[in-house]
Amino acid sequence: MRPVVFFLTIGLSAAADIDTEGLPNTGLDTSSWTTGTAPPIDDLVNLHDIQIAAKNTLSAANYAYYRTAALDEVTYQNNLFAWNKIRLNGFSFTDVSDVNLKTTILGYEFDAPFFIAPAAKAGRADDGAEGNLVGAANAAGILYIPSISSTQSIEEIAAAAGDDQVMFHQEYVWSNKTRLQDELTRIEDTGFKALVLTVDNTGIQGIRNWQERYSSSNDNGHDATFTIQSLSELQNMTSLPIVPKGVKTAHDVKLCADLGFPAVYISNHGGRVVDLAPTAVEILLDVHRLYPEVFNQIEIWADGGVRRATHVLTLLALGARAINTRQVELDYFGAPLSGETSSTPYYVSASTYT
Ligand SMILES: Cc1cc2nc3c(=O)[nH]c(=O)nc-3n(C[C@H](O)[C@H](O)[C@H](O)COP(=O)(O)O)c2cc1C
Repeated sequence: MRPVVFFLTIGLSAAADIDTEGLPNTGLDTSSWTTGTAPPIDDLVNLHDIQIAAKNTLSAANYAYYRTAALDEVTYQNNLFAWNKIRLNGFSFTDVSDVNLKTTILGYEFDAPFFIAPAAKAGRADDGAEGNLVGAANAAGILYIPSISSTQSIEEIAAAAGDDQVMFHQEYVWSNKTRLQDELTRIEDTGFKALVLTVDNTGIQGIRNWQERYSSSNDNGHDATFTIQSLSELQNMTSLPIVPKGVKTAHDVKLCADLGFPAVYISNHGGRVVDLAPTAVEILLDVHRLYPEVFNQIEIWADGGVRRATHVLTLLALGARAINTRQVELDYFGAPLSGETSSTPYYVSASTYT
């Protein structure tokens, strides 16, 4: 009897039984999947599926690293589900037979208004690490902004670029100014065209319980003395255009516009830094209410929970120029496009979101 029981146990543990974390039920059937093995790509038809595939395939520690957010993850959840409060409407009598998604970001042409945002350590998902994302962005004609906390070096990522591929690079505000200047110089020397400066974790340490279970290490070294004056002074450390990332109030959007920055990037860092922070939709609505002139002054980029073309359309309709699509899934697959596009002109009724 014993060998039979043994084989039955192995058979049961190999089949994937995955907690889908409250994501929309899109009919995904994981019953034939094997835990720890990448499922057939044909099973995955949207970014929710890809998250579940990542959960099935990555080690628990690596999944936790990508998936984690701060405290009770209220902001993380709001990013994903605040779209439920949006109503998109479209005009019926518009010729949409010849549309394209092309846009410019800081004057550079791209094939779509969505991009791959900075996310640390792509190498925890695949040995190809950030190089995969450079290649995917190039194939899709979209922008990639590698993180300064990447698995690969600034130089390795730059070397993976295709002919004429335009990339920007992310940087943190380190308190160690020698390190900061060294990285800024390397980013400029290796051909990145703009600097995305993350300003949302100076003096704040995101407390991420899920990740803490596997590692006590966290981001550190960020400059807690950072002010708007330091931001202005930082413009003297590089000749690249600087785009402040992680701006969360209409007031700060306006401040960046008045200081002459070419773009500002509204983001709550995927809910990973401060819990209870507002979503991009809420912040954009504040900008409309308080400083509507800003949309003619400066490019506004945005992210947070963007998984569907309808989410991209919502943010575009609210005045954003460039939008990052949800990060965990991109890291896992290095494939920026979900295959979902829309040719319908939409507008958002802001009054539905109050
Ligand atoms: C695994 C992971 C790592 C990240 N690393 C960085 C980083 O190094 N620098 C940064 O500015 N933002 C980082 N972010 C935040 C993203 O750039 C982006 O703002 C956020 O993921 C958007 O929310 P979303 O994940 O819901 O799309 C990271 C996000 C994730 C999920």
